[in-house]
Amino acid sequence: MMRPFTLSLLALLAGAAPAMAQSAPSFPSSGPFGHIDDAAAQRGFAVYESACSACHSLGALHYRDLEGLGLTSAQVAGIASGIKLADGSLATPDSPFKPAAVPASAFGGALPPDLSSIAAQRPGGAAYIYAVLTGYTPAPAGLAIMPGHYYNSAYPGGQIAMPPPLHDGAVTYADGTSPTTAQEAADVAEFLTWAADPTLTIRHEIGLRALIFFGFLFLVALAVKRRAWSAQS
Ligand code: HEC
Repeated sequence: MMRPFTLSLLALLAGAAPAMAQSAPSFPSSGPFGHIDDAAAQRGFAVYESACSACHSLGALHYRDLEGLGLTSAQVAGIASGIKLADGSLATPDSPFKPAAVPASAFGGALPPDLSSIAAQRPGGAAYIYAVLTGYTPAPAGLAIMPGHYYNSAYPGGQIAMPPPLHDGAVTYADGTSPTTAQEAADVAEFLTWAADPTLTIRHEIGLRALIFFGFLFLVALAVKRRAWSAQS
C-alpha cells in the first residue's frame, strides 16, 4: 500500500499539482526552437472569431496576415468577405481586424485588453492564456467575490471581470477536431502566440540553421588546426 503522501508526491512529480484545474498541454511554440502549429492556430482563429472578438480587439493584425498561418489568399478573401465592418461594408484582406464593440462601462470599468501582444506581455505566454481560460472554478468557501467578477484560479488576484468565454462546442471546427473547452483554450492560446510574434517559426528555423552551420564550421576549423599543428612535428 502506498501512503497518501507518497501518492501526492508522485502526482506532483508527474506535473499534476492538485491545485491546477487542468494540467496545461505542451505548446509547440514554446522553447528556443519551438514553431507555431499552423493547424492549431487556424482553429484558434475560429475560436477568437466566435468567442472573443465581440469584446477583444486584435488591432495589430490585418486579415491578409492569416496567410502566414498557411491559408491561401482565396481562403482569406472568403473569411474577410464574411465580416461586416462598423460602417456596414464588408471587410477585405487588407482590412485590419474588426475592432471589438463593447461599451467601456460594460464590465464595471474593467476593459477587455487588446490581445495583439498579450502572449508576449504576460509571463508564461500561451500557458498563461490557457490557464486563465480554463481557470474558472468554484470559489474557495468564504471568499467574497466582487460584483461583476468571477473566481479564476489562474488570474492574478483570483477574480476576473471576464465571464467564462468558452464551453464545450463553443465553435465548430472545420477540420473535425472535437471542440472541448480545453481544446478551444489551447488552440486560441496558440493563435494568440502567433499573433504576438508572426515570425516566430521562421526566426527559430534560421536560428537552428545558424547553429548547425557554425557547429559545422567549428569542426572544420578544429580539423584544420589539428592538421596544421601536427605537421610541425
Ligand atoms: C464578454 C466579453 C469578453 C469576452 C467574450 C472575452 N473576454 Fe477576455 N476579458 C474581458 C474583460 C472585461 C477582461 C478584463 C478582466 C479584468 O480586468 O478583470 C478580459 C481579460 C482577458 C485576459 C486577461 C488579460 C490579462 O490582463 O492578463 C485574457 C488573456 C483574455 N481576456 C482572453 C480572452 C479570450 C482568448 C477570449 C475568447 C476565448 C476572451 N477573452 C473573451 C472580456 C471578455
